[in-house]
Amino acid sequence: MTSVAVVTGASSGIGAATARRLAAEGFHVLAAARRTDRLAALVAEIEAAGGAATAVACDVTSDESVAGLAQAATALGPVTLLVNNAGGARGLDPVESGSVDDWQWMYDVNVLGTLRVTQALLPALEASGAATIVVVSSTAGFTVYEGGGGYVAAKHAQTAIAGTLRLELCGRPIRVIEIDPGMVRTDEFGLVRFGGDAEKAAAVYAGVAEPLVAEDVADCVAWCATRPQHVNVDRLVVRPRAQAAQHKVHRVG
Ligand SMILES: NC(=O)c1ccc[n+]([C@@H]2O[C@H](COP(=O)([O-])OP(=O)(O)OC[C@H]3O[C@@H](n4cnc5c(N)ncnc54)[C@H](OP(=O)(O)O)[C@@H]3O)[C@@H](O)[C@H]2O)c1
Repeated sequence: MTSVAVVTGASSGIGAATARRLAAEGFHVLAAARRTDRLAALVAEIEAAGGAATAVACDVTSDESVAGLAQAATALGPVTLLVNNAGGARGLDPVESGSVDDWQWMYDVNVLGTLRVTQALLPALEASGAATIVVVSSTAGFTVYEGGGGYVAAKHAQTAIAGTLRLELCGRPIRVIEIDPGMVRTDEFGLVRFGGDAEKAAAVYAGVAEPLVAEDVADCVAWCATRPQHVNVDRLVVRPRAQAAQHKVHRVG
């Protein structure tokens, strides 16, 4: 039977690119997110390219919704890969004036979403006998930056889940891989962060000739997930060449 790969946040950006790529690698992709119209279009695209995919409406902040995702995954076949990708940032305010609601949203989606989905899928992953859990955290998972407080706190917590889980699952047939991208130009990440302000969102990438794109991160996920099962890439940090560090970005013009 074809191995099932569950990808959360598959309706856009890195998640959608990862779903396309994993389908091309031969997985049956279970594409999960809240926006089902986008998932349906993605599934149609994957199938037209000869791949296999199924869409599942899932809100990672809901126990009930995540239980439905786990049920749909196990019904499809052996679940060997989970990509915890759903997440994002809201706001770029200093700690002094940051919105509690924004911080709450970031913790709920990035951290508790990863926890909820991982807990729900662990039995099926373990039953497959050779499973991989990928956590898409961020360079914000290990570096602080001004205005990033809420996102940085959430990504540090998400990173802590990956590290802790790897220790706790040692000896069982599940590897845990953390992928930490730097600056990735996706259509929606900046829009979500800046409440739909396209100008502010575009300014993040201003003058950066080649930020990473979603396919670059999907490539990292696919590479890690297709190594022989005994090879555990603990943590993969990937940035564009123009971003030597969080605070050091080469911009022209
Ligand atoms: N772009 C970057 O520079 C960058 C850098 C480092 C790390 N990352 C991380 O990479 C991941 C993907 O980012 P991206 O740039 O691809 O952003 P994006 O295009 O905004 O994608 C975010 C995805 O998360 C989903 N999502 C949000 N809330 C959800 C919820 N409650 N339940 C289920 N799904 C939910 C969204 O789908 P729906 O709205 O349809 O539910 C969407 O598919 C995030 O974890 C982000 O923190 C991004």
